[in-house]
Amino acid sequence: PAAARVGDLLSRMTLEEKIGQMVQIDRSVASIDAMKTYFIGSVLSGGGSAPLPEASAEDWVNMINGFQKGALSSRLGIPMIYGIDAVHGHNNVYNATIFPHNVGLGATRDPELVRRIGSATALEARATGIPYVFAPCIAVCRDPRWGRCYESYSEDHKIVQEMTEIIPGLQGDIPANSQKGAPYVGGNKKVAACAKHFVGDGGTSKGINEYDTVIDQQELLSIHMPAYSDSIIKGVSTVMISYSSWNGEKMHANRDLIMDFLKGTLKFKGFVISDWEGIDRITSPPHSNYTYSVQAAVLAGIDMVMVPINYKEFINDLINLVKNNVVPMDRIDDAVGRILLVKFTMGLFENPLADFSLVNELGSQDHRDLAREAVRKSVVLLKNGKSGNITDPVIPLPKKVSKILVTGSHADNLGYQCGGWTIAWQGFSGNNYTTGTTILGAIKSAVDSSTEVIYSENPDGNFVKSNNFAYAIVVVGEHPYAETAGDSPNLTMVEPGASVISNVCDSVKCIVILITGRPIVIEPYISSIDALVSAWLPGSEGQGITDVLFGDHGFSGKLPRTWFKTVDQLPMNVGDSHYDPLFPFGFGLETESVKELVTRSTSAGVVARPCILIVVVALILSL
Ligand code: IFM
Repeated sequence: PAAARVGDLLSRMTLEEKIGQMVQIDRSVASIDAMKTYFIGSVLSGGGSAPLPEASAEDWVNMINGFQKGALSSRLGIPMIYGIDAVHGHNNVYNATIFPHNVGLGATRDPELVRRIGSATALEARATGIPYVFAPCIAVCRDPRWGRCYESYSEDHKIVQEMTEIIPGLQGDIPANSQKGAPYVGGNKKVAACAKHFVGDGGTSKGINEYDTVIDQQELLSIHMPAYSDSIIKGVSTVMISYSSWNGEKMHANRDLIMDFLKGTLKFKGFVISDWEGIDRITSPPHSNYTYSVQAAVLAGIDMVMVPINYKEFINDLINLVKNNVVPMDRIDDAVGRILLVKFTMGLFENPLADFSLVNELGSQDHRDLAREAVRKSVVLLKNGKSGNITDPVIPLPKKVSKILVTGSHADNLGYQCGGWTIAWQGFSGNNYTTGTTILGAIKSAVDSSTEVIYSENPDGNFVKSNNFAYAIVVVGEHPYAETAGDSPNLTMVEPGASVISNVCDSVKCIVILITGRPIVIEPYISSIDALVSAWLPGSEGQGITDVLFGDHGFSGKLPRTWFKTVDQLPMNVGDSHYDPLFPFGFGLETESVKELVTRSTSAGVVARPCILIVVVALILSL
């Protein structure tokens, strides 16, 4: 029936109404009048949009319903679809649950967990009136110097493929009788997903964002394409095109891969969306030619264009291109038919306006518990004991000691632990813009009430020496970033992280927790560190980290990426020849929880020593 409804509606639409459906505009230029006059098909709050940190769930619902009423008042009353990024939970709104970024989820090796995160994200998006998310990013990041590496589940395409399980979480399970490649969204508690960025975005040279992926077809198909095949089998509704090029050809103009392969060979029947101003970059100064870019993008198979500001120019150009027979009408009908198919399938015509019935889903306790579970399964224990063997384990840490030190710029900073794409595109610093628990807060609530917790962000060596700390927890890493701003040729931690490690670890038993979107340079400091934990960008629930530090749960996370020794080894991925990492792909020490240790020791008839660690995975030789 959805296909019949598409055909019927298409037959009644004017050219202007059809082209309006192909346009996605930024919230800042949307208005009731614009929606009605130009038949706009979609509105977004994207990375480039001004954030709305103070807006409540109700404010979002009211704002989106306002735009929707404009769309509904147009001649045919076709509803618009509102989209946001939601790449680690609903990352646009205050009080949402912020899940670990994808690199951490890759470390969990737990697709079922990721599916539940998809369901929770869908509920939180719907709570604010949003039916469409530009997630998941299914890039296979092959070089950690890339500023979007944390949005990638892994350097290994098989893990990325498994994690496409987030799609049925976001959208619901496709019905058994679905046509191959058909989009699916199962009602008002689910959202349309978007597999991005098609294709090869994680393979650019030197990890430079939006750059050229210079690989042969075999590598493109075997490493970067499989997660798209899986996403389409799972009914993904939309696919976003990558800013990058493949062997010099801009993906936004690549007809062979979009029209012929994605829509033809893979039989994708949802709609293809451009990236933000992605078509503008098909041509570049001094030869920029917007009209040509519109023509190339639409002929390549892009159905909806994230314009997102100068929409009148886009609309005029495309109308003229059709009237002059440069872009055939059947290409426009294909594009609009796909957009309408998604809208009909998800029930947007029946339920275009959001209500307030789901507002309590935003940041609910269930979702925070789920995020905490995800954090504790994502953290990877890289070293446990100064000598690098199992004789002097540091973790699990004792909760009851006289005094401990917590230090480092990332110990008490929700913005840093959430990373980019949180409230603002580039993330934020401090504890004001979202709710959750910092690592310091989590430590304070985990330890015994008699344990004194001293916090000093950047203590000097004498202070550390003169206090009798039982141990110190040092939390350092990268500052938040997104897209090109995150490209990093050096991959060093932000200052004064390295000097904090030296000041502290030279004087007291130290546990270093890295808050980073990727492996960074750590080899020069590793011998002074007693225990090393990679916590990635864990999001709003810091207790997930203390759950494993203090032995309420065991460590189980495994590296989703190879950890290099020096940046001149990059790119280096599992399976490469001359593979000589600091920690190999898949590495991660396992610990038993204190409870497990006590139970096992007691049942074996030996005296339990709760602080004994059982290391299951051997430490690598270089330690
Ligand atoms: O969805 C994103 C994309 O991943 C990068 N450019 C901006 C888009 C909208 O925010």
